[in-house]
Amino acid sequence: MNKVLIAQKTSPEVLAIMEPHAELVTIKEGDATDLQEKIADCQAILLGTWLPFSPEIMDAAPMLRVISRTGVGVDNVDVAAATARGIYVLNTPGINALTVAEHALAMIISLAKHIVYLDQQVRSNHFRSRRLYLPTDLDGKTLGIVGFGAIGRLLAEKCKAAFNMPSLVHDPFVSELPDWAKPAGSIEEVFENSDFVSLHLPLTNQTRKMVSSRLLSLMKPTAFLVNTSRGEVIDEDALYEFLDDKKIAGAGLDVFEHEPPSPNNRLLSLPNIILTPHTGALTRECSLRVAKCAAQGIADFFLGNTPEFVYNRDLIKTK
Ligand SMILES: NC(=O)c1ccc[n+]([C@@H]2O[C@H](COP(=O)([O-])OP(=O)(O)OC[C@H]3O[C@@H](n4cnc5c(N)ncnc54)[C@H](O)[C@@H]3O)[C@@H](O)[C@H]2O)c1
Repeated sequence: MNKVLIAQKTSPEVLAIMEPHAELVTIKEGDATDLQEKIADCQAILLGTWLPFSPEIMDAAPMLRVISRTGVGVDNVDVAAATARGIYVLNTPGINALTVAEHALAMIISLAKHIVYLDQQVRSNHFRSRRLYLPTDLDGKTLGIVGFGAIGRLLAEKCKAAFNMPSLVHDPFVSELPDWAKPAGSIEEVFENSDFVSLHLPLTNQTRKMVSSRLLSLMKPTAFLVNTSRGEVIDEDALYEFLDDKKIAGAGLDVFEHEPPSPNNRLLSLPNIILTPHTGALTRECSLRVAKCAAQGIADFFLGNTPEFVYNRDLIKTK
């Protein structure tokens, strides 16, 4: 009988998709020792973000054929090592896009309207601060999008529909844009001309610390930065300096260089930043959608079909 290791908390609906094809072995999310023991005779694993899935773990799992990641980013899996061992890495692209785009939009609105700051003012009996630090309108403001994939495109559509915001787009791998979005000649052009810059690109060797002092220095002092992609895409020390010196208006971060961020992380002390704990995709509806998609990939593999979303497609080509 095939075995699947369930390495994250999930619902009976999700388990029901895999149950006809395999014995399901559950571990407590976060228990790396238990995982290392129980994965030894498993063919598949349903995996979230908590575990860096290293070559050492793969070596402890000689029967493993499928790593199914509940999400788009597979940066906690050593994909090259998995491919070398003939292990499929599955992900769920596009399934959580709507939810993350809504989260980025929520950050844009909260930043523009000073929602978190004003909430604190009312609670601390500073009602008169309503005239001290005025919010901004969104109507007609330029949205800079870096990474025009599933999430970036949806956010741009929502901002256009709700606030008549034109988009300025940098994505070296996308050639066709809708007529209301303008391609930027360079990433610099996006940082220089946008009122909001929202990041929606993957973490790769090319994009790590891409948002540096050099790019931040191009932003308008009234502009905001939003990151729901991966924390390491931003140089956090540089961002701290720019926010602290009020060289940019503010930032909204759902993701951090180290998660959870250290209590000593200086960004946590700033008033002009709003923070969420990597919850961009964590609505009730989205968690279920994503887990069902990841489970379906495992079921398809056991049925002998090619799963819909194979991240390491090179593996299929070599089979
Ligand atoms: N906060 C969360 O909970 C959450 C949830 C889902 C995804 N994410 C992150 O958001 C990212 C985007 O997700 P998506 O579903 O839109 O992915 P996607 O693959 O559909 O889109 C990513 C886009 O980035 C572009 N890109 C790649 N390198 C680039 C570069 N150097 N400069 C500019 N653009 C570049 C690609 O061409 C692609 O169009 C994911 O990689 C993931 O890390 C975060």
